[in-house]
Amino acid sequence: MTGEIGEIDETGEIDEGVAVLRRGGLVGMPTETVYGLAGDASNEAAVRRIFSVKRRPPDHPLIVHIADRSQLAGWSAHVPASAAVLADACWPGPLTLLVPKADHVLAAVTGGRDTVGIRVPAHPVATALLQCFGGGLAAPSANRFGQVSPTTAGHVRDDLGGDVDFVLDGGACPIGVESTIVDCTTSPPQILRPGGIADEEISRLLDGATEGSSGPTRASGMRASHYAPRARVEISETVAGATILAAQLASDGLAVDVLDPTADLVVAAQQLYVWLRDADTRGLDVLVAVLPPSFGLGHAIRDRLLKAAGRG
Ligand code: TXA
Ligand code: MG
Repeated sequence: MTGEIGEIDETGEIDEGVAVLRRGGLVGMPTETVYGLAGDASNEAAVRRIFSVKRRPPDHPLIVHIADRSQLAGWSAHVPASAAVLADACWPGPLTLLVPKADHVLAAVTGGRDTVGIRVPAHPVATALLQCFGGGLAAPSANRFGQVSPTTAGHVRDDLGGDVDFVLDGGACPIGVESTIVDCTTSPPQILRPGGIADEEISRLLDGATEGSSGPTRASGMRASHYAPRARVEISETVAGATILAAQLASDGLAVDVLDPTADLVVAAQQLYVWLRDADTRGLDVLVAVLPPSFGLGHAIRDRLLKAAGRG
């Protein structure tokens, strides 16, 4: 199914998802970026189960997903001006804002920090689930810690099996890389993770008042190696360099292929995690990836490939 919410409603799947969430269960939730492993952000047991299913260290905080912009104030102690500007311009969409957390936000969600990451996803199935549920949904990407993020319902089932109670199938994620994360509690705001909204767009909206993600990052969960398939990932700045390296590795008897995402960055972002997963399905020893230029979606793709190579 392709995210036709009518279809999903007819089969009662949103209602079933909400019922699972209300009893503290976990739901595979399609978003425009990647699939999330969603649980009730106000239910401590559900939040703890997200960490244990993901095998994720507790100091890596979760993003809280909300149905619409009007709910932001309820999750933050106050909404910084930069967060208001970005939320108005980019939500629903692939942008997570770090804001000072409201008192009720569970320490289990924020890893004990005084900030919370919030986003309004732009996917009809996520929107329907959030609207019917009413509250916030804590949702990291629905993969085990450090591994490749899922962009289809099949990926979620393959990765998590019986550890996820219910998976909503919203088709393939249209963007394919995670949200851009902006810390709005600093001055100037700081881009912590490049993602589905280009850094240049964030800077433009804030009249240039941002620190880019090339600087030191304060967000945990962004260390090497992440987004990593079993196959070793090597990187090259040029197609020629990648071809030479691949030939050398092949002559050593390794199963190797070249991944060149530079032709179309929108397609490359959509397909990136499928390509990384395919490397394992095909039994490759090494995938040699060409790095796209650090512009637009290229920034996020570079970031994920560098991390997959353990060079993040
Ligand atoms: O597109 C996305 O953002 C997806 C979909 C499901 O919404 N979610 C996602 O979640 O990528 P996750 O948990 O895989 O990555 C969230 C990142 C982590 O690196 C986490 O450490 C960071 O955001 N993060 C969340 N809250 C934070 C906070 N309060 N302070 C610093 N970093 C935070
Ligand atoms: Mg993740």
